[in-house]
Amino acid sequence: MKRTILITGAGTGIGRDSAFALAMRGHSVLATTQTEEQARALREEAAQKNAVLQVFKLDITQDQDRQSIADLSLDVLINNAGVGESGSLAEVDIERIRQVFEVNVFSTLALTQIALRGMIARQRGTVLFVSSIAGRLPMPFLMPYGMSKFALSAGGAALREEIDQLGKNVHIALIEPGAIFTGFNQAMMARKYTWMGPSSYFAGHVEKIKRQEGQVFKWLEASSTDSIVRQIVKATEAKRPKLRYVAPWLQGFGVRLARILGV
Ligand SMILES: NC(=O)c1ccc[n+]([C@@H]2O[C@H](COP(=O)([O-])OP(=O)(O)OC[C@H]3O[C@@H](n4cnc5c(N)ncnc54)[C@H](OP(=O)(O)O)[C@@H]3O)[C@@H](O)[C@H]2O)c1
Repeated sequence: MKRTILITGAGTGIGRDSAFALAMRGHSVLATTQTEEQARALREEAAQKNAVLQVFKLDITQDQDRQSIADLSLDVLINNAGVGESGSLAEVDIERIRQVFEVNVFSTLALTQIALRGMIARQRGTVLFVSSIAGRLPMPFLMPYGMSKFALSAGGAALREEIDQLGKNVHIALIEPGAIFTGFNQAMMARKYTWMGPSSYFAGHVEKIKRQEGQVFKWLEASSTDSIVRQIVKATEAKRPKLRYVAPWLQGFGVRLARILGV
């Protein structure tokens, strides 16, 4: 069945690749971007690829932008937009953590509530939250971001049960990517060095931290978005999506193992 799908943060990375994959499968895709500039670039890319995408700007932190989806008959909302922030919880400015939660949790939820109104009334729909494996496993120096994904995964799982109780054929699922090379992780890791000055508790550890995180992501990161895009397509097209869609498989297995071992 062809679906009408809105995806946020579709100007780059996983969101952009998912938008094209879903459009190629014949779905009607509303690919939204944070800025007008990204929207223009995405329209041009779609034209070059002969892909049918309806592109418009939707900054999820802007209430006016969010309200623009109220009258759309969406079958699927893919909450993909996200931002990263890093640094030790011992010293990161709380305002930076608040900013991450503003995008990854509060604005995502506010948009979801608007989409849910229509879905519940029409008795049909699916909401996907693109969370992260970082929302299941605490990772040092990445928790300003990780905590937001823990909140998103926990909230999404509970929302799924709440909505199930209504029996309105509306479904909630989590997409949990592992580390995938889109540039997102590198930008997130680098961010802390813009504010960690000589007075940082970790000033004498910077080279070691850089080496460790560089090695972890070099070893972990999948070079393409293909595996997670396949999971997003699967969840989008499922009649009754399961709770979690994780990729790459090996990273998902690693998280499960770590939890069994009590890490
Ligand atoms: N790559 C990974 O390893 C990985 C792993 C786990 C989970 N994820 C999650 O996957 C999602 C996509 O990440 P990605 O790797 O594809 O990185 P990405 O290319 O940076 O994608 C994130 C997108 O969200 C957009 N965005 C940020 N704030 C927004 C806002 N207020 N309104 C609308 N859009 C906004 C970004 O726009 P700008 O470019 O303008 O900032 C960007 O286009 C994110 O939720 C991320 O947390 C990624």
